[in-house]
This record gives sequence, C-alpha cells and structure tokens, in this order.
Amino acid sequence: MGNVIIMDHPLIKHKIGIIRDSSTGTKEFREMISEIAMLETYESTRNLSLEEVEIETPMAATTVERLAGKKLAIVPILRAGLGMVSGMQMLIPSAKVGHIGMYRDHETLEPVEYYCKLPADIEDRDVFVVDPMLATGGSACDAIAQLKKRGCKNIRFLCIIAAPEGLKRLREEHPDVDITVGALDDHLNEIGYIVPGLGDAGDRIFGTK
Ligand code: PRP
Ligand code: URA
Repeated sequence: MGNVIIMDHPLIKHKIGIIRDSSTGTKEFREMISEIAMLETYESTRNLSLEEVEIETPMAATTVERLAGKKLAIVPILRAGLGMVSGMQMLIPSAKVGHIGMYRDHETLEPVEYYCKLPADIEDRDVFVVDPMLATGGSACDAIAQLKKRGCKNIRFLCIIAAPEGLKRLREEHPDVDITVGALDDHLNEIGYIVPGLGDAGDRIFGTK
C-alpha cells in the first residue's frame, strides 16, 4: 500500500493561506504554487535510493552518498499541473517532463482527455503525477491509469489541496501510489469544487477569469 503524506509544515501552511485568499493576484499565486510544489517534492523524494561513491575532497579520500541514478519523470495534468513543474525542477532538474491534458466536463464532472505526450522511456522512470487540485479524483485516477497502461510501475501523486472524496477514490483505485497532499480540505460542494479550497486553480494560475 502506498503512503499518504499530509504536509504539516509552517512554510506550506503559510503559502497555502496566501493562495486560498481571493485577493491574491496571478503573479503571487503562480509563485506560491511553484514554491509549495518544491517543498512537497522535498518530502515526497525522501525514499529515493542512494548509493555510495568514493571521491576525494581537497583534504582526503572519502565515501559520499549520491542518488542511485534512478530515472525520474514529472507528469503535470494540464492545465493547472503545469504551475507545479518549475518548483519541482529546482530539486529534480534532470527529470523528463510528460504532459497529460484533461478537463472536467462541467455537467458530469467526468475528466475528458485531450492530449498526451510522454517521454519515450516512461515505463523505466519513477513518475510524479502532479495537479494542484484533487477534487472528485477523476482526473488523477484517469491520468494514473493511462500511465499504468504505458507500463509505469512506480508512480507518486502530488497535489496542493485535496477533498476527502478525491483522496478516498484515489486510494481505492490506485492503492500502490504514494500520495503527497499540501492540505486536506473539508468537502466538495454540489458543483464539484473543493471547500474552502481556492477556486479554479487553472484560471488563477493563468489569469483566465
Ligand atoms: C481541475 C484541476 C484538476 C481537476 C480536479 O482542472 O486542475 O485537473 O479539475 O478535479 P477532479 O479531481 O474532480 O477531476 P480543470 O478540469 O478545471 O481543467 P484546467 O486545469 O484546464 O482548468
Ligand atoms: N478544480 C479546481 O480548479 N478547483 C476545485 O475546487 C475543484 C476542481
């Protein structure tokens, strides 16, 4: 069974407070999304494996630890997941980036896939699927199913705000996936928005409303 980490850190709490505030503008919103994603990446990479390497410091020969050369990929769910990529690349700069485009049908709340472009060797990589919002869980579950169909075995999911309904569904449909959540909110409203949430993440990142 995968782990679920609900972040409990003052920096993340502070930054999530800023993005929840409806008076926060696009520039600051985008910066905060990127910074929160970076902090979540720090936590969700805690179990990456290391290997010992012999090196020489200016003073002596010694043994150091390095990441064991595991190949990584970041897969944002378009659009809003794109906002998390720059912060993650600060910590894992050599990760390849794939894209899965999905939007929720406003009537049914079912995700509709409109784009998918992944690194050719995606099945050999540890994959971080990222989207700021986990609401019904439909988009995350479908994106992860798509990656599993392509042969991916080690998948983590990172989001900034989750509804209990979406977290439950993701755990049920993909129990093997490690999940990192910035904040677990109260509920989904009747039109599928997270409460208290932050509104429409894509519109707030890209200034489209
Ligand atoms: C939002 C969000 C997630 C999805 C979450 O995307 O970024 O992808 O909704 O909802 P779910 O858990 O119920 O599937 P949206 O459909 O608004 O598309 P956008 O990012 O292009 O704005
Ligand atoms: N997508 C969003 O952007 N916000 C929500 O609250 C739910 C889904």
